[in-house]
Amino acid sequence: MSRQRSATTTLQRRISVIAIAAAAAAVISVAAYAATPVEIQKQRHEHYEQLGDAFKTVRDNSKGTPDYAALDKALAVIQKATENQQQWFPKGTGPEAGKTRALPEIWSKPDDFTAAQKLFTDKVGPLAAAVKARDVDAIGKAFREVGGSCKNCHDSFRAPE
Ligand code: HEC
Repeated sequence: MSRQRSATTTLQRRISVIAIAAAAAAVISVAAYAATPVEIQKQRHEHYEQLGDAFKTVRDNSKGTPDYAALDKALAVIQKATENQQQWFPKGTGPEAGKTRALPEIWSKPDDFTAAQKLFTDKVGPLAAAVKARDVDAIGKAFREVGGSCKNCHDSFRAPE
């Protein structure tokens, strides 16, 4: 009797292990699902809208008495963008795939585009340091530098509206 019960318990455990494994496999296959070019364009647009909002928060807190909690949050979004931006432009997600302001030069001049991404990343470093130091003058200065790096890329790689 007790042996039977323990056999049942073992079987139940095995079943639940299998169920967990199946659920994990399902999650993995969803993650591996390849987004279409139009979906990637949409996601990219959302990433930039978030970046734009975060940058506005920095602007609004770059003089006077900043809201440092808001700045910390905004900075996290901006830093994440510097890390992820390389992945936002897979081949085939330019104007040929649908409505986008991403110019074909992103793919035809990859070295220049990478340099523009790097400039942005480099300018975010001092901004992060200034926010960490709670130094509002340095934040104002770094904000303008980062803004210049946004513009630098937009001038060459983003189509006018
Ligand atoms: C290395 C290039 C690059 C850098 C750096 C860059 N952007 Fe952009 N940005 C783009 C491109 C390309 C698009 C258009 C994307 C698309 O339409 O698919 C874009 C789109 C946007 C948009 C969406 C606007 C719209 O109507 O499509 C906003 C907002 C934006 N960027 C803000 C910023 C801000 C703020 C920064 C700096 C903190 C920044 N970007 C840095 C290349 C860049």
